Amino acid sequence: MGKQKLILDVDTGTDDAVAVMLAALHPDLELVGVTTVNGNAEVRYCTENTLRVLDAIDRSDIPVFEGQRKPLVRDDFPVPRFDGDLTDKIHGKYLDVAPASSKKQQGHAVEFLVETYRNASEEIILVPVAPLTNIAAALVAEPKFADWVPRIVLMGGAHLHGNTTPSAEFNIWADPEAARIVFAAGFADITMVPLDATHKALVTLDDCKKLRSLGTAAGRLTAQFTEHRIGVHDEIQRMDIAHSAPVHDALCIAHLLHPEVITLEEHHVDVECEGRLTVGQTVIDTRKRGRGQPNCKVAFDADAGLFVDTLIKTFS
Ligand code: BDR
Ligand code: CA
Repeated sequence: MGKQKLILDVDTGTDDAVAVMLAALHPDLELVGVTTVNGNAEVRYCTENTLRVLDAIDRSDIPVFEGQRKPLVRDDFPVPRFDGDLTDKIHGKYLDVAPASSKKQQGHAVEFLVETYRNASEEIILVPVAPLTNIAAALVAEPKFADWVPRIVLMGGAHLHGNTTPSAEFNIWADPEAARIVFAAGFADITMVPLDATHKALVTLDDCKKLRSLGTAAGRLTAQFTEHRIGVHDEIQRMDIAHSAPVHDALCIAHLLHPEVITLEEHHVDVECEGRLTVGQTVIDTRKRGRGQPNCKVAFDADAGLFVDTLIKTFS
């Protein structure tokens, strides 16, 4: 069998960076392109960070397309970003990696997505691990986009509790209208990897030691980014295991390689766009109380051992 093709939509970002490296370096995957979007930082920083990471692992052959600069219908996030908020602390503007020598592509990310799927003759899995602005914009530009994308695996949402507000996870909160459009668009196969799963796949300081000792650029950078994440989580958003952090976005890539790394249930998912306290909440109808038919496979659990093992084996 040939390699599994995928496109990653990112807002790189310390955990996006690990997802990019896993997708770019695993021999069973072919990363067709990376699209960037406003999210963890302004899109220009996310683009530069993506290029930095690809340069650092000698994969600057993978094309990077810059996308949307602001949410689909809002001028800004529900609450404008400020220096020193959780997202800023976890990611900063620039990743601590040498400036990129490679350049982004000329075209726009949304155009790249629409044209790639219009012309695709093989399955290309779409993996958005950022606010869903580019994906919703692709649907607005070309409603048939929903029929052309065979499978989506996205990081976003939360059932038990949020990370940006008590009820909302960052990627969905950052562009709730875009997320609502994506969940309602009729894509054939959406897998959602929310905080409920990523907080079960925690990476520890011991794991970081192992990753660093691999002696590869990807191992060293994953250790560096994850140690930084652990420091911030220890300070302001403690995890269930001391001195550990989720590396959310990379879990989506691990799932492409080892489906059993997450545990899935099919449910109807919608997004709250109006609530003062609940904007950006993913409403997951686990008890079938509403009228919506299941539109999504939702991950509620994850296998931390298999996840870390996948990182170590791929980066060795
Ligand atoms: C998600 O938000 C971003 O900060 C991370 O990169 C991840 O995609 C986690 O809530
Ligand atoms: Ca991300």
